Amino acid sequence: MITSRQPAVPAAVAAHYDGLDAYYRSLWGEHVHHGLWSGPADRAPVEIATRGLAEYVIALARIEPGDRVVDVGCGYGATSRLLAREHGARVTGLTLSAAQAAYAVSVGGRPGDPEILVRDWRENGLPDGEADAVVAIECLSHMPDKPRVFAELARVLKPGARLVLTDWLACEQRRPWRDRALLRPICDEGRLPSMHTAAEYGELLTGAGFELLRFEDLSRRVSRTWPIIVRRALARALRDPEARRFLLDRGNPDRIFALTVPRLMAAYATRAMVQGLFVAQRTGAAGGGR
Ligand SMILES: C[S@@+](CC[C@H](N)C(=O)[O-])C[C@H]1O[C@@H](n2cnc3c(N)ncnc32)[C@H](O)[C@@H]1O
Repeated sequence: MITSRQPAVPAAVAAHYDGLDAYYRSLWGEHVHHGLWSGPADRAPVEIATRGLAEYVIALARIEPGDRVVDVGCGYGATSRLLAREHGARVTGLTLSAAQAAYAVSVGGRPGDPEILVRDWRENGLPDGEADAVVAIECLSHMPDKPRVFAELARVLKPGARLVLTDWLACEQRRPWRDRALLRPICDEGRLPSMHTAAEYGELLTGAGFELLRFEDLSRRVSRTWPIIVRRALARALRDPEARRFLLDRGNPDRIFALTVPRLMAAYATRAMVQGLFVAQRTGAAGGGR
């Protein structure tokens, strides 16, 4: 496990996403996570590839119409809306960011659209054992107290129901220089209180009452996200004085994001960082799950 040198408390995570709201949306669109490409020949733009990752997660969660689904760390609610509008799920999404929730509400409002809560996952207040599935895309690494985070994932699910999560992980083969120059600064700058290995997430899952069904290392299929984001950020900075000011203003605590991106590219290139996908089933299966 890599730990951050700064206390990455939920208030700091909320401030990060509120502060970067317009900037993140201008670079990524509504899905604030990596894109998923099928291989080098796949030239899909980042908006299609990010939606592709959400669709992959949803397919693995095996959603059926009417299912109750929780989207942990839902960002702008884009995955929640896909679940509700294209799969007929009844969805609750949670984010710490009031700006993200306000956007999600502003583009929602259709019958059956997700309920969006501004709430810390660790204090989610959702009922025991009601969810047919939980999805969590690139958000758990922002949360302190991982045993509690995983216990809440298990608590809200029905026995036999599925959790599909993706997250930023440290590779198993640690090198002091990679921890020092890449992973720890990524934790500090990205507001990640800790970054775990895949094996550690496996232990957290089984400790919380899950059976691990599948793990995939998606790193090679997602790492192209960062060069595309760099090109977009540079193009925007060239044509938009406001974006230039955002990146150059020393008083702006969020401009640190610009430093993290080259580190992320180096972390993928040196295989220090892994983008992991886990499919797990809540044990105590009623009817053996699905
Ligand atoms: C990288 S964004 C991913 C957003 C979304 N899953 C997506 O894929 O577009 C991380 C999200 O995690 C949320 N988050 C981080 N810590 C959280 C916590 N303790 N409780 C609820 N949400 C949290 C943030 O508010 C943000 O929406």
